[in-house]
Amino acid sequence: MSFTVAIDGPAAAGKGTISKAVAAHFGFAHLDTGLLYRAVGAKVIAGAEPIAAAETLDPVELENDRLRTPEVAQAASEVAVIPQVRDALIAFQRTFAARDGGAVLDGRDIGTVICPDAPAKLFVTASAECRAERRFQELLGKGMDVSLEQVIADVKERDARDRSRATAPLLPAEDAVLLDTSDLTIDEAIAAAINIVQNARS
Ligand code: CDP
Repeated sequence: MSFTVAIDGPAAAGKGTISKAVAAHFGFAHLDTGLLYRAVGAKVIAGAEPIAAAETLDPVELENDRLRTPEVAQAASEVAVIPQVRDALIAFQRTFAARDGGAVLDGRDIGTVICPDAPAKLFVTASAECRAERRFQELLGKGMDVSLEQVIADVKERDARDRSRATAPLLPAEDAVLLDTSDLTIDEAIAAAINIVQNARS
């Protein structure tokens, strides 16, 4: 049986960590949909045309550590504005969401566009300062050469672009439960998310 958990929110809000933990707790599969846009962005940086890059995207291309850089994140949010790019990625996401055994998808438009009927929807937020600081530490931990100023600028610029685009803008679904992680530890945020999903299951 399928059961879809939709987790949306702005850049570096903790969606990835929370989604992985929720998926592990319930034994669901997890798809980080940001990676689809990052992979398309990386192909565009390498010279590809955005719509063709999305239409020919192979899941193998998602397994690449270089997709995590702020440069690729920016390219991702630029291609994510293009409706045909988004369209090309819909079928893959919906098929993943409908898989037997349950699925967690995290992104920007999962609860609003990709899976509007998902029984569990979360919108994860945190203050821009918290998000930038967390992402900065995460990138440093991966050995990347970034400055806090660069990370703050990336997060703010992408949020503004993601919120203001005409197609599938970043916004909570009407029936999403809001989870502000600014003052929560990782464990507290995960526990709160598991609780929200558990409530939606029963
Ligand atoms: O990890 P982080 O929250 O920083 O970003 P991400 O989830 O990897 O997404 C990178 C970019 O892809 C975002 O800034 C969005 O522009 C775009 N994206 C989107 O438009 N729709 C999604 N479902 C997921 C990501």
